[in-house]
Amino acid sequence: MLGAEVFTSEDPSVGSTPGRSRHARQTVAFYHHIAEIDLNPAETTTCTFAQLDICFRRLPRANREGKVMTGSEAVSERPSLYDRLGGVYSIATVVEDLIDQIMVDPRLNANPRVDEAHHKVPPAGFKYLVTEMLCGAAGGPQRYSGRSMEESHRDMAITPGEWQAFMDDLQTTLDKFSVPAAEQAEVKALVESTRAAIVVPVV
Ligand code: HEM
Repeated sequence: MLGAEVFTSEDPSVGSTPGRSRHARQTVAFYHHIAEIDLNPAETTTCTFAQLDICFRRLPRANREGKVMTGSEAVSERPSLYDRLGGVYSIATVVEDLIDQIMVDPRLNANPRVDEAHHKVPPAGFKYLVTEMLCGAAGGPQRYSGRSMEESHRDMAITPGEWQAFMDDLQTTLDKFSVPAAEQAEVKALVESTRAAIVVPVV
């Protein structure tokens, strides 16, 4: 076990049942091919960000559709950050953990505008929009459909200290799910790229 579970199926037929997600079927297929990950798919199938990352690195000749690639394709095609993180199921799980943390973080709710805004929107919608945004930014097929970062945060007057609290919470979540260092750096760079639109400038 490399870290906290982000995708679990107890169902032995998950790999072949029509209607199961492609992610689930791919995940099971990976386990059939990787001897080092000693899990029996007939009993349980458990994925973590880190395990999925290992899966992709050890199967350089299989692309996401399971097609065999030519030698040059296998060398040149690096999986997107989205794929290395494990796709939408893994990213949504991580976002859920992050939002659950920031919703109750006293360092953020000390800002009365943040506190009020946090409690007027249903967390599920907030989680959906952040998942959609991060998935799209990481190279997934999703396209963010919410408001701009400037528009959705400008009334909250978010300070640099509150931003740091958010980044601390993000670090806690990334560590909890054992996201590898390289992918952590890429996720944090994506989040940092929104900072100028969210944090009020210090005058
Ligand atoms: C200190 C940092 C942050 C705080 C306190 C914060 C707080 C909030 C709150 C309270 C809302 C709900 C606003 C409303 O509907 O009235 C919101 C919306 C949102 N935030 Fe943040 N946020 C922070 C940083 C971020 C970052 C870094 C991202 C993305 C990487 C992000 C993505 C979003 C999205 C996608 C929405 C929904 C926009 C919409 O309603 O269309 N936030 N944020």
